[in-house]
Amino acid sequence: MTNIDKIIDLRSDTVTSPSPEMREAIYTAKVGDHGYGDDKTTIELEAYCADLFGKESALLMTSGTMSDQIAIRCYTQPGDEIVLDRSYHINYFQAGPSTDLGKVLLNLCDAEGGILTPEDIEEAITGKYRGELFNRATLLCLENTINGYGGRIFPLENLKKIFTYAGMKGLPVHMDGERFLNACIATKISPREYAKYTDSISTSFSKGLGAPFGSILMGSRSLIQKAAKYRKWYGGALHQSGFMAAAAMYAIQNNVQRLEVDHRNARLLAVLLGAEDYFDIDLQVVETNMVMLSTKKLNLESSHFVDLCRNEGVLLYPWSQYTVRAVSHLDVSEKDIAVAAEKIIQVSKNILNGTIP
Ligand SMILES: Cc1ncc(COP(=O)(O)O)c(C=O)c1O
Repeated sequence: MTNIDKIIDLRSDTVTSPSPEMREAIYTAKVGDHGYGDDKTTIELEAYCADLFGKESALLMTSGTMSDQIAIRCYTQPGDEIVLDRSYHINYFQAGPSTDLGKVLLNLCDAEGGILTPEDIEEAITGKYRGELFNRATLLCLENTINGYGGRIFPLENLKKIFTYAGMKGLPVHMDGERFLNACIATKISPREYAKYTDSISTSFSKGLGAPFGSILMGSRSLIQKAAKYRKWYGGALHQSGFMAAAAMYAIQNNVQRLEVDHRNARLLAVLLGAEDYFDIDLQVVETNMVMLSTKKLNLESSHFVDLCRNEGVLLYPWSQYTVRAVSHLDVSEKDIAVAAEKIIQVSKNILNGTIP
């Protein structure tokens, strides 16, 4: 191990620590028992988000997983199918809860870059015979930005087509939009305009926005009423939720525009690493705050590569067998990115030189 002045943590944008201003907002939050609907800070946050995303109603959740799982529970009956891309979080990380809590089958597509088309959905639905007594697909789930494809954006034009098609088929569209605001900042499309082409959408406060917890599910009044019941059932109805809401409100009012800094930093990392030709980086697909690195040319599994980088003070996430994910966020600077790139390159050189077994 070399001299390490600072650990540079690029595993995820969830690793941030609340700023002093956010801590102050949490400390001074006005709270009440929201079991009785008394928490004004939560009520304010939900109204703010519903308005920002152009939805009738919103409900604060403890996590993105809870938003997704409750959306699934609201739209489906046990045994129903949901259609989504294989790469999406609802499959890749939430296959367990989706089948255990939601009791749904995941009808998976393999769309280029995770950007589903009406044809993919048509194939998923009609690819097998559906007699009267067979199960049905009752929900379409999308993701924006698409985590498994390195934070790629689900383009508005594709979303419009899908939404129209799904409407014709009577399929509601839930958007797992935990990093939706990254897409809004990168495309300069307002959340309201983008979210128009979804029936419900969730977004996270604890990823790029830097809050310690919280996600919000937004949709029609009737959907959110139903979601409130399941949130209670699933143990997510907090009492003095205003502490969480205050952090979320600080995050959404102060940390959205600065996501463009994270996007610049991710691009910088991609450019610096791409210049060395170790990782097959396609700069075209570095659209927001993530970079995916292939370790195939190094002939090393991602988890081994991640261990070697950790020894040098750079933390990365082993996404799949030969893919490593690096994510920029509020707690890494441009200088940190340059240092991280230098160390990652040095590790790669050492691997190819045989200095590291
Ligand atoms: C696209 C997406 N959806 C859902 C989640 C789950 O969020 P949480 O970790 O808050 O449960 C994540 C987490 O990274 C995510 O990237």
